[in-house]
Amino acid sequence: MSLPSKVKIIEVGPRDGLQNEQQTIPADIKIELVNRLTNAGFANIEAASFVSPKWVPQMATSSEVMAGITRKPGAIYSALVPNMKGFEAALAAKADEVVIFGAASEAFSQKNINCSIAESIERFRDVAEAAKQNKLRLRGSISCALGCPYQGEVSVESVADVVKRLRDLGCDEIDIADTIGVGTPNKVQAVMQRAAKEFSIERLSGHFHDTYGQALANIYASLEVGIAIFHSSVAGLGGCPYAKGATGNVATEDVIYMMQGLGIETGIDLHAVVEIGQFISKHLGRKAVSRAGNAIAAKRLA
Ligand code: HMG
Ligand code: MG
Repeated sequence: MSLPSKVKIIEVGPRDGLQNEQQTIPADIKIELVNRLTNAGFANIEAASFVSPKWVPQMATSSEVMAGITRKPGAIYSALVPNMKGFEAALAAKADEVVIFGAASEAFSQKNINCSIAESIERFRDVAEAAKQNKLRLRGSISCALGCPYQGEVSVESVADVVKRLRDLGCDEIDIADTIGVGTPNKVQAVMQRAAKEFSIERLSGHFHDTYGQALANIYASLEVGIAIFHSSVAGLGGCPYAKGATGNVATEDVIYMMQGLGIETGIDLHAVVEIGQFISKHLGRKAVSRAGNAIAAKRLA
């Protein structure tokens, strides 16, 4: 199969990237981050998460962030919602897309959202109906699709089972997420191909954390089987507070650099993203975790 000629990159830095930061990041920095990402060309940015502030304190400013950003017409600003309380907040904040997030592992579902997979689907049913009524896009995310920090192995069939349930709730897009970055290319292809038997491949995405350095290889493997939507975080920010040891998402700069090399269109200005990576890393007081980003930034200074 030939590789897709263009891909959609969903920038998840403002949400997945920042949710695990211990230092409180002021809303105006988050707003500037989203605005800069918008200007760099992203058509879909995960900007907020309406979860319990006791569980994820960093995301408590989500309403403020959504109210403060400058939206580009046609761009999609997404927000995570675990239940109807989160949905109501996302609706009030004018999110364009709500993301229900479940897991392919029972143990992780309990740790992350305090309920079983079956219970989560029941909660999501109300959210899905409300999203449709309010004409919001609905995305479903499946954590631990390639392994679980508590349970270990996760079978391809258990991923397929959650794909079916999210499809039946009416999701417009479904994310196959490697929460702890343990997947390798062959296994990723097997999961994607199995998921594609249940849900249209054009609307399946790959969400790879880079804990074991496999994310770019896994993205390439996904391209080979026809996946054309990927998530990434500028500067490689990120991690899930309920997946101990998991590091950030694959760095957006690295993904765009690879896509450019492959002649695959992203619509995103790599040099602008490199600058954004340096901006947010400076604010956080550390070096960006993007090989391509740091190499391009160093070359500029030379
Ligand atoms: P719970 O304690 O079972 O909830 O948590 P509850 O319904 O019993 O409510 C307890 C309290 O939370 C109540 O407040 C509720 O009002 C409040 P109190 O009366 O005690 O003051 N509450 C809320 N507050 C604000 N917004 C809400 C909300 N819901 C309840 N939406 C719950 C269940 C799902 C709320 C909790 O477990 C939670 O917030 N979990 C979120 C965990 C999370 O955000 N994890 C990171 C995101 S997922 C991720 O990163 C993975 C992903 O990137 C893909 C991948 O890489 O795998 C997407
Ligand atoms: Mg994630």
